[in-house]
Amino acid sequence: MRFGESLTDVEMSPYKFIAHIDRLKALSEGRDIFPVTVEIDLVDYCNHSCGWCVDPVHRNNSLDAGIVCQLLSELKELGVKGIVYKGGGEPTLHDSFTTVLEETKRLGFEVGIVTNGSRLQELHGAIVKNADYLRVSIDGPTADSHARLHKSNDFDEVIAGVRYAVMLKKSLGQRHPVIGLSFAMDHQMVDLVGDALILGDSLGVDYILLRPPFYEEVGRPAGMSTEQKTALLCAFERERASYAGKMEVFIDYWLSDSDVNELSSAGESPRRGSYVRPGVNGIEHVTGKCLASPLMAVIAADRKVYACCNLRFLDEWNVGTINYDTGDTFEKLWHGDRRKQVMDRIHQVECIRFCTHPMSRYNEVIEYLRSPRYHEGFV
Ligand SMILES: C[S@@+](CC[C@H](N)C(=O)[O-])C[C@H]1O[C@@H](n2cnc3c(N)ncnc32)[C@H](O)[C@@H]1O
Repeated sequence: MRFGESLTDVEMSPYKFIAHIDRLKALSEGRDIFPVTVEIDLVDYCNHSCGWCVDPVHRNNSLDAGIVCQLLSELKELGVKGIVYKGGGEPTLHDSFTTVLEETKRLGFEVGIVTNGSRLQELHGAIVKNADYLRVSIDGPTADSHARLHKSNDFDEVIAGVRYAVMLKKSLGQRHPVIGLSFAMDHQMVDLVGDALILGDSLGVDYILLRPPFYEEVGRPAGMSTEQKTALLCAFERERASYAGKMEVFIDYWLSDSDVNELSSAGESPRRGSYVRPGVNGIEHVTGKCLASPLMAVIAADRKVYACCNLRFLDEWNVGTINYDTGDTFEKLWHGDRRKQVMDRIHQVECIRFCTHPMSRYNEVIEYLRSPRYHEGFV
């Protein structure tokens, strides 16, 4: 294989932060930036009902397609590079999903889609044509385990949709969208990890992502003991080691608050001060800071703006509501007093108990840029 052919050389390269070095330098010097990526929640309802869903509530909001177009134009002007349709609910349930997708691509954004796959059979053509990545949340790799977790009975339809998407992409000879399957698996599924690899391999996807679910951080009781979590991670590693096929197998080494023995005191993660290794459990626990969050933003289906995906739906953390009729644009809210107050709190990680550390890698780079430049003279 030549360099550049693999996802880990390019799309998932550990050096991707270099593409954002100007914004990272700005943040390290205390200057504000506009986001690189914005998650737009097209709807905040879902047709599946996953027991440990990160979206704690589902409602009935749907963003008007006209507002989405206004938003996209504004975000383009502000230098936003990528739009992700993922959270709040199931994005493909939006009435104008295909139109919105086409408009996003037409404006020159990179587009990411995370879906439960329930409408993929119908939408795979538009997605393969317009998206840069497609991640399908399978979680349970068999019909039974999928039904138990998602409380739905559409496993075969979801898998057929993935198969169509992969076949179409291959027939068009396209590199994108990168197509992946994610499996958030609890300990009850420890014996099914091998099935996840077999499923991904047989479908010909580019990668699978194996991860333990988040619990406390999304406001749920801890769902696994440390021993169960360790056994699960071992199973992930064992299956990955015995896999010899072409797809990439990623493991999310997420460390939860349930992995420490101390009891959580109100409002603070008990992991404060603990750090296993870069990228694993969050430098924010050690530095007590998160300076990277402006790299991304969330616009929820009720038009509320959040400064981090982990704060979605937490009312005290929204930075205002987009309303083009009254002049409350994204830019105005981003520069507004309410966001300043929220950012002061985020900088000091007052939000750490909700944190799944999406910005850890970037915070590591920012902290490096803030530190004394010892040994810079050596390569
Ligand atoms: C909340 S869903 C929303 C998008 C879409 N409805 C879907 O199912 O992909 C986004 C992703 O979060 C993952 N997810 C949800 N709850 C989680 C949790 N508690 N821990 C880890 N991942 C979770 C899902 O597996 C899914 O891949």
